Amino acid sequence: MDIAVAKRRSSFSGKFFAAAVLITICFVMFKQSLNSSSHNMFSYHEAGVTHVLVTGGAGYIGSHAALRLLKDSYRVTILDNLSRGNIGAVRVLQKLFPEPGRLQFIYADLGDAKAVNKIFSENAFDAVMHFAAVAYVGESTLEPLRYYHNITSNTLLVLEAMAAHNVKTLIYSSTCATYGEPEKMPITEETTQVPINPYGKAKKMAEDIILDFSKNSDMGVMILRYFNVIGSDPEGKLGEAPRPELREQGRISGACFDAARGIIPGLKVRGTDYETADGTCVRDYIDVTDLVDAHVKALAHAQPGKVGIYNVGTGKGSSVKEFVEACKKATGVDIKVEYLSRRPGDYAKVYSDPSKVRKELNWTAHYTLQESLQIAWRWQKSHLNGYGLSNAMG
Ligand SMILES: NC(=O)c1ccc[n+]([C@@H]2O[C@H](COP(=O)([O-])OP(=O)(O)OC[C@H]3O[C@@H](n4cnc5c(N)ncnc54)[C@H](O)[C@@H]3O)[C@@H](O)[C@H]2O)c1
Ligand SMILES: *[C@@H]1O[C@H](CO)[C@@H](O)[C@H](O)[C@H]1NC(C)=O
Ligand SMILES: *[C@@H]1O[C@H](CO)[C@@H](O)[C@H](O)[C@H]1NC(C)=O
Ligand SMILES: *[C@@H]1O[C@H](CO)[C@@H](O)[C@H](O)[C@H]1NC(C)=O
Repeated sequence: MDIAVAKRRSSFSGKFFAAAVLITICFVMFKQSLNSSSHNMFSYHEAGVTHVLVTGGAGYIGSHAALRLLKDSYRVTILDNLSRGNIGAVRVLQKLFPEPGRLQFIYADLGDAKAVNKIFSENAFDAVMHFAAVAYVGESTLEPLRYYHNITSNTLLVLEAMAAHNVKTLIYSSTCATYGEPEKMPITEETTQVPINPYGKAKKMAEDIILDFSKNSDMGVMILRYFNVIGSDPEGKLGEAPRPELREQGRISGACFDAARGIIPGLKVRGTDYETADGTCVRDYIDVTDLVDAHVKALAHAQPGKVGIYNVGTGKGSSVKEFVEACKKATGVDIKVEYLSRRPGDYAKVYSDPSKVRKELNWTAHYTLQESLQIAWRWQKSHLNGYGLSNAMG
């Protein structure tokens, strides 16, 4: 009797044990299949596949860059803490490229050195496109530390992680704001950089850190200094959707669309007595699709131990008045325009000489101001609420 009971018990616990083992195995296999289809492909270098880390890839320019890279068969990891970008843009990309090993999104803060290091040790990046930053001149004068922290110090962190994990190529987002207000136009790469606001200074400092580091390293570096970026994906997959609270800081294209939609009563043009043909400020507007094309070309041309610095602009200046006319045509709305006195800190004329990037990277801008605005307006009209989900995780 005793023996029989013990036997039954042991066979019961044996079955229980076997079931537990089976469940554990299933669970482990399930987890592994989840991982191996997505995570593991990002952890190893694969011959013929270039894995690009896109920091700030949920943002305006970064999301467009990720789209282009994915179209061109790159493997992409987006790192963003959604402090400014849109998870909706990432969702669009995930839907377009659901295959394993194409795109992964990592929610992390670049200011967190430990987290960044872990990400670099768990992923096999071949290159970094470093877009993540805060990027409003006005805000930078009010909150300079935010700019030095999130631009300069975070770039240092990215560079340290790249060095520690042997990532060999960096494409850096810089800006014409690093030149300040040069006397002579157009701006070439040799124009002396004298930035006049914390945004431009923080970017210049980040450039200097990168340049000093690269003197003694075999990293291939491309620094792209963008002019005024406008437009959106011509297929209408992505657009520009800044947080409502950032609208005030905003850029002229956003203001133009807001005025056309009646969200704001009209456009305020600040300054009509500048030394320009029509008295309003002149800027060089570069389309975002053209801009990301320059990034892909820069990536292809990057060489170990070399640094390339390029202005990315159209080479053609447009006045605010011309911009407003193009905006009216693109939207078909007769936007009300109010002319006010100058805003402090604006300079009369800024436009690029893009001949170096044309010669060395075979890149030129294709979109006209009018075309860019037309494309962007189409997205704005069909996405009145931006990405909709933009604040869901931010
Ligand atoms: N938009 C322009 O006209 C322009 C002109 C010249 C240069 N740039 C540069 O281009 C880059 C991209 O600009 P954008 O207009 O796309 O800006 P954006 O604000 O749309 O995108 C920046 C992204 O970086 C992310 N980010 C910021 N801090 C982060 C952090 N600590 N950790 C993780 N993610 C973080 C934000 O969430 C956001 O998604 C910036 O470096 C900017 O300085 C922009
Ligand atoms: C994003 O990163 C910054 C530091 O760079 C941090 O201060 C901020 O709180 C982060 N935001 C989110 C939503 O994690
Ligand atoms: C940038 O840094 C500051 C700290 O200086 C932090 O408060 C802020 O949240 C950071 N991130 C952004 C996106 O501004
Ligand atoms: C430069 O780009 C054009 C297309 O924009 C292409 O037709 C041409 O072959 C390229 N030239 C070189 C030298 O790669």
